[in-house]
Amino acid sequence: MLTGNVGFLGAGAIAEALIRGMLNAGIVRPEQVLVSNRSDRERLAYLARRYGLRTAGSKGSVVDVCQVLVVACKPKDVGGLLAEVGGRFRQGQILLSLAAGITTRYIEERVTPGVVVIRAMPNTSCQVGESATAICGGRFATPEAMDLVTAILGSVGQVCTVPEEQMDAVTGLSGSGPAYIYLLVEAMIEAGEAVGLSPEVARALTLQTVKGAAMTLAATGADPAELREQVTSPGGTTAAGLQVLREAGFTQALVRAIARATERSRELGQAPAVPASEVGD
Ligand SMILES: NC(=O)c1ccc[n+]([C@@H]2O[C@H](COP(=O)([O-])OP(=O)(O)OC[C@H]3O[C@@H](n4cnc5c(N)ncnc54)[C@H](OP(=O)(O)O)[C@@H]3O)[C@@H](O)[C@H]2O)c1
Repeated sequence: MLTGNVGFLGAGAIAEALIRGMLNAGIVRPEQVLVSNRSDRERLAYLARRYGLRTAGSKGSVVDVCQVLVVACKPKDVGGLLAEVGGRFRQGQILLSLAAGITTRYIEERVTPGVVVIRAMPNTSCQVGESATAICGGRFATPEAMDLVTAILGSVGQVCTVPEEQMDAVTGLSGSGPAYIYLLVEAMIEAGEAVGLSPEVARALTLQTVKGAAMTLAATGADPAELREQVTSPGGTTAAGLQVLREAGFTQALVRAIARATERSRELGQAPAVPASEVGD
């Protein structure tokens, strides 16, 4: 349970998912959460009504009264936001940035010295409380602040801590990862139809298969290779299917995809000419 207030600078999809997660987990009470955005007052009124939150007069007043500030705007808007309120932060406050590709150093250069900056890369599954999130701390991050942020983001999924130089790899693996799984699901549904199932049955069986396999991995903690071997009898159907995937270079294709996405994240982070908003898309 947080004792101070949590303020949101940006009140879009991810802000709402995090607010819902924190309230459901009992980490904060509604009256401890303040929301602000650029201009959409209707959106703030909706959030206040739906979750019982406080709306603020201005972004600056949110910064003034909060222990933790969550930067939840698009990466391209972070510079403008910090130019407006960066100097209003106080030493020791925690700034949690969800903006893909924006480094802790970039933020630290635009806020009051001594502000604790922590950067997070959640993924889109935070909408259903199942994000795979990685965090890294900036210069002034303390273990206590990292624990607090882990608890906040833990309300919408699982949280790992990584060194900042690994954030591009995180983006390539789990940031972009849901899309790889969606592609796998699309392919399995298409394949199910090709072998004679109705689209509805192919979809239902595929979704439950993916969910069941993920839950088995999580519940048993077993090595995926071990689980795969357990369900593969020599000469059986699974062995025959896996053989085709091996011949088609399934594993190498995924390894290359994640390497390329990681490299792309690095390129976007380093090229000021390319809008940082493309990072993590
Ligand atoms: N959605 C996800 O699943 C997900 C996953 C990983 C990372 N992220 C990261 O989370 C961030 C937000 O994504 P989103 O999907 O929630 O975006 P979104 O729904 O488009 O919301 C963006 C919010 O930022 C506000 N904003 C823009 N400029 C601002 C400024 N200068 N000051 C204050 N607020 C400002 C907007 O306000 P107005 O509406 O008034 O313009 C809006 O409330 C992005 O950086 C993205 O990289 C999102």
